Amino acid sequence: MSLPTVVLVPCWGSGHFMSALEAGKRLLDTGGGAFSLTVLLMHSPTQTKASEVEGHVRREAASGLDIRFLQLPAVEHPTGCVDPVEFDSRYAQLHAPHVKSAIASLQGRVAAVVVDLFLTTLLDAAHELAVPAYVYFASPAAFLALMLRLPALRGDLTSAGFEEKGGTVDLPGLPPVPAPYMPACLVRAKIQSYDWFEYHGRRFTEARGVIVNTSLELEGSVLAAIPAALPVHAIGPVISFGGPTDDEQRPPAHECVRWLDAQPAASVVFICFGSMGFLDAAQVREVAVGLQRSGHRFLWVLRGPPHAGSRFPTDAAQAQLDELLPEGFMAACCTAGNNIGMVWPAWAPQKEILSHAAVGGFVTHCGWNSVLESLWFGVPMLPWPLYGEQHLNAFALVAGVGAAVALGMDRKKGFFVEAAELERAVRSLMGGGSSEEVTKAREKAAEMRAACRKAVAEGGSSRAALQRLVREILALPESLEGTS
Ligand SMILES: *[C@@H]1O[C@H](CO)[C@@H](O)[C@H](O)[C@H]1NC(C)=O
Repeated sequence: MSLPTVVLVPCWGSGHFMSALEAGKRLLDTGGGAFSLTVLLMHSPTQTKASEVEGHVRREAASGLDIRFLQLPAVEHPTGCVDPVEFDSRYAQLHAPHVKSAIASLQGRVAAVVVDLFLTTLLDAAHELAVPAYVYFASPAAFLALMLRLPALRGDLTSAGFEEKGGTVDLPGLPPVPAPYMPACLVRAKIQSYDWFEYHGRRFTEARGVIVNTSLELEGSVLAAIPAALPVHAIGPVISFGGPTDDEQRPPAHECVRWLDAQPAASVVFICFGSMGFLDAAQVREVAVGLQRSGHRFLWVLRGPPHAGSRFPTDAAQAQLDELLPEGFMAACCTAGNNIGMVWPAWAPQKEILSHAAVGGFVTHCGWNSVLESLWFGVPMLPWPLYGEQHLNAFALVAGVGAAVALGMDRKKGFFVEAAELERAVRSLMGGGSSEEVTKAREKAAEMRAACRKAVAEGGSSRAALQRLVREILALPESLEGTS
């Protein structure tokens, strides 16, 4: 007889895909061979995303774990969509019949279906087959709490979103959130994106539980404020490096890491806006001037603007540094004689960089993965949110977790940051740390480093949540041990 299986339905974008797959692997590992994992793959609607995901799938399929990948048939693209969340949601919805028949045709019992947060249109397939369904949520619990509140908040809104309203928004478990910190997709976008976020938030409550990549130690107050009717499983974070761990087989260190090797401890500010983030030319100039005037060492991952027709920079593209940076900048900061900075024009190994002893602060776009990685390594942050739910993350980091120093942004000018403000903030983050704000940020970052590691170790809160979840999926009694 074949083992029961857990069916995972991830989104097609590389980041979401990897995060969901990681969650699936942790379930599999905790299950200790009691079930297998089946991953249903949707074709990516774009070519670049497709090839990245194919690479991941090939590596995982060869890893020897009990994971089976099933490709779903292609579907048409939905037409007339006005925003990306609507496109993703409707594109997923068109897969519903294929998901249902794929699940129905699996050998052995299907113990649970886990869908990505934007794929709640697929919950119907699980309901129709009477299989317990869960949602995997790769963003912070603060954003989950917000999505659950959207139906109630709607009454206050004009069609322009939260920005029009001004004032603050109450999110249980957080200090009042100033309206401009609400996720950019809800503040500024047309009302359609609000509709879809609200839709998914409503549907979460139909799931048997939501699995979130956070921990009690990081977001305890927010998690406690989520209505008990919706069980939330905080199972994160675990930062894995992948690849061979013994020195012999490890590939040579990345150029950025080699540069860091030559810098004093905690002396370098690391600036990186994630794999999809980029700044326009005017903003790049302000960063350059601000960094140079701060006098601190820096490692700056500078992505060029995306090619025509694409919304984000691609991994392969190299930024044209001589076109982007002010004249004389490289000569002043990054030459053999005056080597206080490094500008890297392409993708860089963020985890390796954050784990390096030379890094003392992180200017980040506040994507949740970056935040978790920074906390895992105890690096205090300077939040510079760009899109998605990053503004809310930034707020929670400064006002809630406290492991960050605030950066002033000009909201009226599209969240522009002046060179002088960056200079001030970098000095505050990196410079000796006498102000109360930065002392607290450093202490909190160190505290969170210890707390994150404890949470996922045996006996920790996230580890225990994962074990409880696996017992629930396997329909074992609470008290039964042996699933660790
Ligand atoms: C949680 O986030 C961390 C940080 O990005 C990531 O390395 C890890 O794979 C994530 N875990 C899950 C279960 O998604």
